[in-house]
Amino acid sequence: MLYATLIAIFTTLVFSVHSFPSSQTRLNTGTPAKFLHITDIHVDPHYRPHTSPALSCHRRSLNSPNTALTYGTVSTLCDTPFITSNATFDFLRNEVSPVQFVVYTGDSVRHDRDELMERTYAEVEEGNRMVVQWFVDEFVKNGIAVIPTIGNNDVYEHDSLPPGPTPFLNTLFHIWKPFNLNLTSSFLRGGYFRHDLPDSPLTFISMNSMYLYNGNGLVGDCTEGRTIDYFPKCYEMYVDILGHYSGIIIGHFAGHTNGDTLAFVTESSEGYKMFPVVKEKKPAKNSIKNVVLVLNNAPSVIPANNPGLRVYHYATSPHNYGHLLDYVQYYVNMTQANLANNLEYKIEYTASDAYGLKSLGPKEWMNVLREFERDDSEAWKKYCLYQTVSVTDG
Ligand SMILES: *[C@@H]1O[C@H](CO)[C@@H](O)[C@H](O)[C@H]1NC(C)=O
Ligand SMILES: *[C@@H]1O[C@H](CO)[C@@H](O)[C@H](O)[C@H]1NC(C)=O
Ligand SMILES: *[C@@H]1O[C@H](CO)[C@@H](O)[C@H](O)[C@H]1NC(C)=O
Repeated sequence: MLYATLIAIFTTLVFSVHSFPSSQTRLNTGTPAKFLHITDIHVDPHYRPHTSPALSCHRRSLNSPNTALTYGTVSTLCDTPFITSNATFDFLRNEVSPVQFVVYTGDSVRHDRDELMERTYAEVEEGNRMVVQWFVDEFVKNGIAVIPTIGNNDVYEHDSLPPGPTPFLNTLFHIWKPFNLNLTSSFLRGGYFRHDLPDSPLTFISMNSMYLYNGNGLVGDCTEGRTIDYFPKCYEMYVDILGHYSGIIIGHFAGHTNGDTLAFVTESSEGYKMFPVVKEKKPAKNSIKNVVLVLNNAPSVIPANNPGLRVYHYATSPHNYGHLLDYVQYYVNMTQANLANNLEYKIEYTASDAYGLKSLGPKEWMNVLREFERDDSEAWKKYCLYQTVSVTDG
């Protein structure tokens, strides 16, 4: 038996094989070896078109433009209208299903940004319950597992989760019941769980990154100090564990940032380090070497950028079981949707076409990284465009 037990990073999920499949292991006949990663739906029942983005797209304003659009308003702090979350689930039903399983890296509920309409405990609870129901109706009822993680806006108050047991984890335990997951007393204590996929050698570790997130004022660092997003000591320990178990981790998926980005875990004589790659800082030549694991941050449904969702393909041969082969990134051109009064998901790119990848292992991604570093790199230009889901400035 092989398995990894890990602690958390932002709305993250790790998966691994818990045993090598026997030659008898078969996928359910007719079901392709693909899975969905979707994140940050942030549905907002109060969203109204022709209101002011400065007022969270909730009300009209006399002092600011009332430019909220029907399907959502890109590059604002507004959340997702129902029409867009509904169209997203229509697309999943009609174009993406069937999949083997679904990874949902959290943030179902709207942000708490409107001072005149502060979220209540009941609203957060109801927001979680509603989105869970959508996943249950579309997937769980068809025998497809959905593996969620806790987003920083799924808790009450936002960003704040004390160490468990705590009433909120208990509430979520009940809200997540219909997923039929392996939620044990560890979930009530820490908001994380391990779930072995039935009839498959895959196992998932759903992490609770709320305890690493330095915006969570109700917990402290694993020792002391602060960085941008994470408590630095917890972060270091987490990267160490990822590096240490990189040999058996098949995938690491995160959301939250709304961006389409990668992070590379490297090994050196100084130990394991993590290098997030963002368009704001092109990696210097050979600055990232000996990659042992690649983390995938998928873009969001919320139209902070264009909405996106992702379908991964993986291998099913016995000794390569579960290894990631490719992904298809779907997106909505929101300018187009709002102009045409019709929301359509289309393929933005596939990893194999965009980057010439034959599979998504660390060695393959490292070759892409070397491409990124070149002057005038076309691959880097694509990466920068895709980071914002093809939203270009201005
Ligand atoms: C979205 O779907 C829900 C049912 O899940 C329905 O009640 C609601 O009217 C729909 N909203 C829009 C804007 O399509
Ligand atoms: C269920 O979770 C417990 C720990 O919380 C773990 O020890 C066990 O292996 C898990 N079982 C399955 C079938 O995922
Ligand atoms: C999105 O649609 C608009 C309006 O049709 C178009 O001008 C723009 O080029 C499109 N963007 C992309 C990335 O295709």
